[in-house]
Amino acid sequence: MSSVSPWLAYVIYDPPVSTEIKPKAGLEDIIATSSSICFIDGDRGILAYRGFDIHDLAPHATFEEVCYLLWHGRLPNRAELGDLQSQFGAGRALPDGVIRLLRQLPPSEAMDTLRTAASALAHYDRDASDDSPAANYRKAVRLTAQMGSLVAAIGRLEQNHGPIDPDPVMGFAANFLYQLTGTRPDALAVRALDCALVLHADHELNASTFAARVAAATLTDIHSAIVCGIGALKGPLHGGANAEVMKMLLDFGATASPEKVETTIREKLARKEKIPGFGHRVYKTMDPRAGHLRQLSKDLGKRSGQTHWVEMSERIEALVKGEKKLNPNVDFYSASMYYALGIPVSLYTPIFAVSRTSGWTAHVLEQYANNRLIRPRAEYTGPSVPQPWVPLEQR
Ligand SMILES: CC(C)(COP(=O)(O)OP(=O)(O)OC[C@H]1O[C@@H](n2cnc3c(N)ncnc32)[C@H](O)[C@@H]1OP(=O)(O)O)[C@@H](O)C(=O)NCCC(=O)NCCS
Repeated sequence: MSSVSPWLAYVIYDPPVSTEIKPKAGLEDIIATSSSICFIDGDRGILAYRGFDIHDLAPHATFEEVCYLLWHGRLPNRAELGDLQSQFGAGRALPDGVIRLLRQLPPSEAMDTLRTAASALAHYDRDASDDSPAANYRKAVRLTAQMGSLVAAIGRLEQNHGPIDPDPVMGFAANFLYQLTGTRPDALAVRALDCALVLHADHELNASTFAARVAAATLTDIHSAIVCGIGALKGPLHGGANAEVMKMLLDFGATASPEKVETTIREKLARKEKIPGFGHRVYKTMDPRAGHLRQLSKDLGKRSGQTHWVEMSERIEALVKGEKKLNPNVDFYSASMYYALGIPVSLYTPIFAVSRTSGWTAHVLEQYANNRLIRPRAEYTGPSVPQPWVPLEQR
């Protein structure tokens, strides 16, 4: 006797998903939502936040101005910027419970610690149970401020030093470097980090932002959505690439000859290995962020007397472009730039997360403002339905 119920037999002859619609691997070029936050033209290499070209923002804007722009859709005036700076200053302190948690966790990758600690922040947030638009905005500001303090504290603890209290008066980039190193940074260091934060702040529906928006569309809380973003950013195909770039350069060694670098890269390409920091799903030309980071890397390298990393990077860029027609992405020159700033390699991806928290939260707020559950379909490729049910003792 068949174990198939009559209604199931009916279902198989009436497949609910059209077999004519084939999914595109990795959702390439699929428009999954509308958004007024970030514009990318991958063919012409254009990136703009709320209509402002990245080439204008990178040399002129501070990270705070860009946060305001992403959250409010326009640049702040002096008073509005002052207010946001005060809110950032007031929001930077980490709850004692989170510092204790950081000390208690076993030695871990910094991104794992950041993910857990960002989640823990929700338990201490004074607006935790309030999901009104005003409370969500306050949480976006506070979370962005706290992410900077968290990453600095994780860096300090990795070096067996205690966390440093934030300075509420310093700008975002300056305070981060101060909390990380314990010394007040000079103007070039602050400008370089500020520019890197501006360049990483948002990038349309990149994998981590999409993850955060999918979570937000269930109307879960903003901390949960950002934790999803952190988890997605960690992967080596996304934000994890900047640390992989520096590991590759360090593997070559500071004194590696150009010939050695060239031969090794050619061998990697011949083996079809991916070179971290190259290629992009959307840009078919130069990533507009990479040129700014290359220049910062050169400026900082000159100052520290360590130009070899950026020179090695430029040789790799020329080779990979020539061999594979692939351009460097945002992660490639951020590696040598952070290294010249004296930032430990383990913090490269966490710093990306600090900056991207501004973009993630802007997208989450936009999602909440006009929400519908994000729930796509899958093309079914499994066994035919129904499979005969075989009782356990007969399998
Ligand atoms: C960014 C990335 C994930 C985009 O992926 P994608 O759009 O799915 O592109 P694919 O991985 O399918 O790559 C397309 C082709 O280019 C090659 N390619 C892509 N990136 C490459 C890289 N960094 N090094 C060498 N070859 C690369 C692939 O091997 C593939 O070649 P094939 O067609 O001969 O098989 C991919 O370029 C990559 O893995 N880059 C390295 C990691 C990185 O830097 N990530 C940060 C992104 S900002």
